[in-house]
Amino acid sequence: MRQRKARDLQQRLQGCSEYMELAPTPQAWEETFGSGNDLYLEIGCGKGNFIIKKAEENPQNCYIAVEGQETVILRGLEKLRQRDEAGQGIGNLRFVLAFINHMGDFFYENRLSGIYLNFSDPWPKSRHKKRRLTHRDRLTAYKKALKPGGFIEIKTDNDDLYDFTLEEIHALGYEIAEQTRDLHASQFTSKDTMTEYEEKFKSSGKNINYVKLVF
Ligand SMILES: C[S@@+](CC[C@H](N)C(=O)[O-])C[C@H]1O[C@@H](n2cnc3c(N)ncnc32)[C@H](O)[C@@H]1O
Repeated sequence: MRQRKARDLQQRLQGCSEYMELAPTPQAWEETFGSGNDLYLEIGCGKGNFIIKKAEENPQNCYIAVEGQETVILRGLEKLRQRDEAGQGIGNLRFVLAFINHMGDFFYENRLSGIYLNFSDPWPKSRHKKRRLTHRDRLTAYKKALKPGGFIEIKTDNDDLYDFTLEEIHALGYEIAEQTRDLHASQFTSKDTMTEYEEKFKSSGKNINYVKLVF
């Protein structure tokens, strides 16, 4: 959903530029984090709660949070700045302001250890299905960017998007490692770190669909 533009948006984004990767090329991550690190990506990170918690709990890993809407990403960036000011800075996370469409523009092949797709936009009209983040062309591109043993974790409230995603996975012949239509009634640890949307849907009693691929 499009958000109303935040006040003083550009000025506030500039004030948080140290938490952003402004030139997010494949090489940038080696320069920012050093090579050989385990690198995890969230596409469509929203206000960043999920990825901030992941980065905080796993200081040995490095995290990239990509979000295309300026007003939305600003919330995540300002959380990082507040933490920094409180002496609780998080050095293993960078935000990228972009809508990712071509993975190769951002990442080398065989580089990422994991990709998170949390509550992606459903794009319900059939003519928009290529825009769905779990379209087979995108899943193929994610697999290329992942190292052997790398994973994709997908959570969604949207049952139609989930059905579509399973169809795409089956069409590609990818093996499913974990799967449930009710994540919070399951034993899967993926329920332990929640996104903003997840908190909302869980408290309203909506089931959350989940699938994990390991390559
Ligand atoms: C429904 S929201 C979910 C936000 C968050 N992941 C959560 O679970 O609370 C989906 C977000 O993905 C972003 N988005 C959609 N397509 C994207 C893309 N290709 N690259 C980056 N962000 C994207 C949208 O701008 C939106 O903020």
